[in-house]
Amino acid sequence: MILVRCPPIATFRRRDVFTPAVTPVRKGLPVLKLVAVSGAPEARAADLIAFAVFTEERGPATGTAGATTTSARLQSGKKAGARKAAPTGKRAGGARFAGSAELQHIDVALDGLLSDVAAAEAFTGAAGQTLLLHTHGKLPAARVLLIGLGAADKTGPDAFRRFAGTAVRVADRCKAKKAVVVVPEDGAVRLEARVQAAAEGALLASYRFDKYLTKDRPSSSLEQVELALPTRVRVDESLTRARAVADGVGLARDLVNEPAGTLTPVEFARRAVETGKAAGLKVTVLDERALARERMGMLLAVAKAASPYTPPRVVRLEYRPKKKATKHIVLVGKGLTFDSGGLDIKPADGMLDMKVDMSGAAAVLGAMLAIGRIRPDVAVTGYLGCVENGIGGNAYHPGDILKSRKGLTVEINNTDAEGRLVLGDCIDLAITEQKPDLLIDLATLTGACMVALGPSTAGLFTDDDALAEDIKTIGKRNGEDFWRLPLNDDLLGQLKSTIADMKNTGLRYGGAITAALFLKQFVDQRTNWAHLDIAGPATTDKDADYMVKGGAGFGVRTLVGLIDPR
Ligand code: BES
Ligand code: MN
Ligand code: ZN
Repeated sequence: MILVRCPPIATFRRRDVFTPAVTPVRKGLPVLKLVAVSGAPEARAADLIAFAVFTEERGPATGTAGATTTSARLQSGKKAGARKAAPTGKRAGGARFAGSAELQHIDVALDGLLSDVAAAEAFTGAAGQTLLLHTHGKLPAARVLLIGLGAADKTGPDAFRRFAGTAVRVADRCKAKKAVVVVPEDGAVRLEARVQAAAEGALLASYRFDKYLTKDRPSSSLEQVELALPTRVRVDESLTRARAVADGVGLARDLVNEPAGTLTPVEFARRAVETGKAAGLKVTVLDERALARERMGMLLAVAKAASPYTPPRVVRLEYRPKKKATKHIVLVGKGLTFDSGGLDIKPADGMLDMKVDMSGAAAVLGAMLAIGRIRPDVAVTGYLGCVENGIGGNAYHPGDILKSRKGLTVEINNTDAEGRLVLGDCIDLAITEQKPDLLIDLATLTGACMVALGPSTAGLFTDDDALAEDIKTIGKRNGEDFWRLPLNDDLLGQLKSTIADMKNTGLRYGGAITAALFLKQFVDQRTNWAHLDIAGPATTDKDADYMVKGGAGFGVRTLVGLIDPR
């Protein structure tokens, strides 16, 4: 087991605390206070202090010449010679947390209990392992928490997100009010990135969707998290960015979790207007008349069954930088507030979760919120295609032939393949209006994508190899997993119709690919395009580190990372 190296013990000074501005976006909810501190973390009073522990030693970091993470082994065996006699603040010979100054001090202050328990409980620092110990008044912090991060050379920034997320989770369980999260050294990950990731992890782990609980509402005790830094540097910007990103993810999670009975397309649009205003974006809502004027025949057909009660809305959100924009990126999100399947009705099991079918649009809105706060030099326009795929006398039929905004006619052979119809018209609208350099669409588009990649990986489709690599790498850094699938034109034959320009569905085999190929028909040659099928990772079924059961807010962090790489 490797303990990360931390600075030697020193007393904490007031000027070591910096607090960035806090702008809560979720009104009425308590905001977790997040501050960065430097100086000796083990000298800080708290209900809990959390340390990261790696399993293996990492050599000199690649790229940072001379920098080593001299993480030390947790030596098993002999009792610490200094035992009780050694006060916290002096180095004790024989302490078993050699190399990690803080943990050595803590171990000595606890009479060697930390290393004893770590050995007895086989705490190796493996990813997901935790060890919690009371300090019984022997330290300013009431509890010490060790969190395993796994092999040091396999971790990236997301390990810090998971670390802080786990710390907050355990702190909450302990009814802690204040927790200290010690941001470890890591030669391969810049301090700013470590701080931002840890801050995001802490904020995301404290997310709750509890507005509908009238009893047994689990109240969180945690008020403040201090991120203890190894060196004294200003990290205000990292914290501000983390707050912007976490607010974006939180907003997306809220929208995904909201039932379809309340989050109708009209309500979605209202929230988009509210969010856009708060983030300094220009927001335009296209109602059914405007959509008819645009001849968005595919989108309007899907919307028919649910109208006039829950009519469709398309929302356009524009962010423009002060300086001349370096490029223009358009984001398009599938916003099916409910997908019953239409006349090709879904079975009960398959319909149960279909309030989440607007996760793509939620991710776009979440990303736009963060972008508006971060204000990069890139122009970004977001489109939300908000529609309900309902059932009723006015529903579109299997066999109907629709005319898309682009002019292509589509024979409907399955009314449950509605997302591509809504997105096709939105993509076409976005391209004619914006002529962007890059267009990315996000959609809970196919069950087939989940069959192919499992529940937590998104399908990634693009003809641009460099873009595919970027999305994969940035996704990984952000704990969002993407896997590229082929845009295999050979399968286009599956969409052939004899009475219209194409059909809306192909065979069961390659279902995620034919869905992507359908969308491709609405992208012009000049536009660089990527389609992200997020049907699987849009939700998560269990609480773990910074993930909270329910809507995941998947895509927000990768989009922000792609738009504003640092
Ligand atoms: N919204 C669904 C896809 C989906 C499935 C999202 C599971 C999240 C979880 C989409 O509209 C749909 O119904 N797709 C069909 C396409 C088929 C009819 C060609 C599917 O995947 O079964
Ligand atoms: Mn469907
Ligand atoms: Zn759908």
